[in-house]
Amino acid sequence: MYEFEHISESVTLVDNTSESPEESFETYKVAGTKRKKGILSCGRVYVAILHVMILLLIGLLLNHGFIDSNRSSAQLERSWSPVQDFVEYQESTKHATDPGHNSVYSGPPSEEQEDAWDRLIMPAYLNVSRDELTRAGESFENVIELVGGGYIVSLAVYHELHCLDRYYPNLTETQNQFLKGHLDHCLEVLRMSIMCQGNTVLNSYKWDTEAIDKPMTTSNSRSVCVKWSSIEDWSYDKKVSYSPPVKWPSQNQAQ
Ligand SMILES: *[C@@H]1O[C@H](CO)[C@@H](O)[C@H](O)[C@H]1NC(C)=O
Ligand SMILES: *[C@@H]1O[C@H](CO)[C@@H](O)[C@H](O)[C@H]1NC(C)=O
Repeated sequence: MYEFEHISESVTLVDNTSESPEESFETYKVAGTKRKKGILSCGRVYVAILHVMILLLIGLLLNHGFIDSNRSSAQLERSWSPVQDFVEYQESTKHATDPGHNSVYSGPPSEEQEDAWDRLIMPAYLNVSRDELTRAGESFENVIELVGGGYIVSLAVYHELHCLDRYYPNLTETQNQFLKGHLDHCLEVLRMSIMCQGNTVLNSYKWDTEAIDKPMTTSNSRSVCVKWSSIEDWSYDKKVSYSPPVKWPSQNQAQ
């Protein structure tokens, strides 16, 4: 069986290298000091007009987002994903603020819980085409090919969900040790994802009237969430088994 842990992470850093307004201003000042002294007054007017025009130009560029180190999400681009055109969004007011309330995915281990998790992460491995892998910007070096055609991929969200499913009954001691070692990696996966999403809606706090002096988290906030079924339906359509027959890329085999 494949372990998500074997699939290496790739972190895309936000490009903050674009020229900042401060930098542009420095350049502008340096250019200004290069002016020769003793020019005619109409020359000065000309230079003044030039400066105003440069300032207007900088303003225009800032307005259009050409120079901006603090870009809004609409101006940033995430990698293409074959599911992106199928993803639907919805507002959600669901909050896990009540620690006493368990969903089918939480609480003490049970058969029902295990089945629910199995169903949830069933489409962990998907089959995509060469074109889709290319468009997503993935590397073909030593890429794992599916016997029967296509390439094995996972949506990041399934990698993350897999990290939460930590119930493995009847493990051998070796398997147990392996799992413990990877728990740390899983926490990193989740930490990075949470910080990447950066949900900024507010939680507030109220007094628990039953347990005196005990603060409780509460919220009326709305988050924008994917409609899970839109991702799940697409994924089920593309899924391959947990241990499909795979091979080295054809070029490597020929060598
Ligand atoms: C992967 O998908 C392609 C295109 O639909 C198909 O030809 C191929 O047989 C699939 N591979 C597997 C292992 O199901
Ligand atoms: C774990 O092992 C015990 C004893 O062999 C068995 O009765 C039980 O069904 C196993 N549990 C699972 C979830 O496989």
